Amino acid sequence: MVTDNRGYAPDVRARLTADADQILARYPEARSALLPLLHLVQSEDGYVSPAGIAFCADVLDLSRASVSAVATFYSQYKRRPNGEYTVGVCTNTLCAVMGGDAIFDRLSERLGIGHDETTEDGRITLERVECNAACDYAPVMVINWEFFDNQTPTSAVDVVDALLEGRPVTPTRGADTVATFREVSRVLAGFEDGRADEGVGAGPATLVGLEMSRAKGWTAPAAASGETAEPEDAAGPDAQAAGTEQVGDTGSSAEREETTPADESAEPVTKSEEKGSSE
Ligand code: FES
Repeated sequence: MVTDNRGYAPDVRARLTADADQILARYPEARSALLPLLHLVQSEDGYVSPAGIAFCADVLDLSRASVSAVATFYSQYKRRPNGEYTVGVCTNTLCAVMGGDAIFDRLSERLGIGHDETTEDGRITLERVECNAACDYAPVMVINWEFFDNQTPTSAVDVVDALLEGRPVTPTRGADTVATFREVSRVLAGFEDGRADEGVGAGPATLVGLEMSRAKGWTAPAAASGETAEPEDAAGPDAQAAGTEQVGDTGSSAEREETTPADESAEPVTKSEEKGSSE
């Protein structure tokens, strides 16, 4: 149900408020919950609607302008009704060289829409997207952030045709099927759908370097300070096999104890001390 700036119907508002309470309980500072709350209202309306902006502002006691400022900063938040499936074609450098632009052009022609436009039936929004950190599978297409690797214009059109016809499509890695934009938005709001462990995470191409370094016994070089690197098997073969060995040199930031401004044991630094230390 798409709403307007008159706000949500009472039953919808009650349901969203119950969800918002769960989200707020995860954060010590209420306004830290704004990003998942925006995903929550996006899961309700299919975009961050005026009613969604008002809801977030009310829940967090923020101005609507403050909420809008955040919602317009991130490209994952849509300010007009989004398609059921966002088809993102990576046209960043490596994917472009490998055919990303050709894939985008073919899809644009097939769907009759350009970048950031949605088909009339509300099924698909087409986007050019930046690097998805999947360059080893270039050219890459993502549908609601699920990966379709090593695409060609023809394979990409086949996937999109299936979506248009309501047939299920199977990502190359990750989940077994592609959830709708609203379903994914709810997951991003922090409500798991139980599918996080479906399918392959890092595929063979991503692991080539790791496998090669293990086969050849390669390790990271010693620290520039002259300290000797830890022996290769210091953490034990099991930890190495599981990829869980500790990282960082002795005394490096990896071993530092975390402190925050709220740490009561820390002596406060006065303005005059700050000034004096810089002179
Ligand atoms: S350039 Fe496309 S995934 Fe990196």
